[in-house]
Amino acid sequence: MQYRTLGRTGLNVSVMGIGAGGPSRLGQRDNIRTEAQSVALVLRGIDAGVNFIDTAEAYRTEEIVGAAVAQRDRSQIIISTKKRLRGANITREELRAGLHDSLRRLRTDYIDVYHLHGLKPDQYDYYRQEILPAMQDLQREGKIRFLGVTENWSGDLEHEMLARAVQDGFWDVIMVGFNLLNQKARESVLRPAIEHDIGVLIMFAIRRALSQPAKLKSTLEQLIEIGEIDANDIDLDYPLGFLIESGAAASIPDAAYRFTRDERGAHVILSGTGNPQHLDANLATFARPPLPPEITARLKHIFRGAHSVTGG
Ligand SMILES: NC(=O)c1ccc[n+]([C@@H]2O[C@H](COP(=O)([O-])OP(=O)(O)OC[C@H]3O[C@@H](n4cnc5c(N)ncnc54)[C@H](OP(=O)(O)O)[C@@H]3O)[C@@H](O)[C@H]2O)c1
Repeated sequence: MQYRTLGRTGLNVSVMGIGAGGPSRLGQRDNIRTEAQSVALVLRGIDAGVNFIDTAEAYRTEEIVGAAVAQRDRSQIIISTKKRLRGANITREELRAGLHDSLRRLRTDYIDVYHLHGLKPDQYDYYRQEILPAMQDLQREGKIRFLGVTENWSGDLEHEMLARAVQDGFWDVIMVGFNLLNQKARESVLRPAIEHDIGVLIMFAIRRALSQPAKLKSTLEQLIEIGEIDANDIDLDYPLGFLIESGAAASIPDAAYRFTRDERGAHVILSGTGNPQHLDANLATFARPPLPPEITARLKHIFRGAHSVTGG
């Protein structure tokens, strides 16, 4: 496993992070796995060298993560979790209560990175002025090590919220949507994040469009229809088949994770699965070298104008 420094946090993090949310929630979303199987999945990742785990109050997987971490050395694992922000603005008391509930479920007395979950652009001012000071109090109390914020990508395709957050100086870590289908965050978020030495977590690296062939085809058709990619660049009979035919990648997910991993400014690429075979395949992917430069350049070229899809 390759490790990187998570920006100014100085944390030494594995490039692959376990994502306990997304479409799979460690296999819990559709009850595909028992809780014991999901705990075993997290342990399998940790034992293979993954030291970064992302969960959230909203995912209902904090207990699973807590049960897994309790079986290993807590001090060697970086736990990232988030406060749910649905509906009306939360109060400082609700933030504090939410953090304490997360600590209990995660069986720990500190969170390494605590985020506001899916903050929308129109919520930003309130949360910065009213809730950030409460997060800083919890940080001084030793309950949070670093402060984070994640975006609501499908509702904020232009990354408006994070484009502000990266300039603000308050956030140690951000989570941004970025994948080969939509590279819009490169200029508006990743570049300033590098300048401000902010830790960057990537979500949506494969999501559904880059893990399910039918969804990839429909996403590419949509991008062609709205004129964000050129039909001449795509073979709809074998979407992005050149990645495999050229020998550059073992599969589309393999290419997609490696493309994202080697993007400048990205530190941890979150990978969510409920399937042990997929976990093993993804661990192998993260051990592979960069994609050939001509393949990376071709992907940048094909999707240079795409900004309306998340791949979700
Ligand atoms: N706003 C936010 O804060 C936010 C939003 C979304 C996600 N996240 C975080 O980001 C993490 C990553 O989630 P994501 O939504 O970005 O999803 P992702 O990890 O890009 O994709 C997960 C999907 O890919 C499938 N998959 C994984 N490996 C595969 C493989 N080798 N072959 C085929 N299919 C594969 C999974 O299904 P299987 O179970 O079948 O493998 C799942 O449906 C989440 O877990 C969460 O921690 C945060």
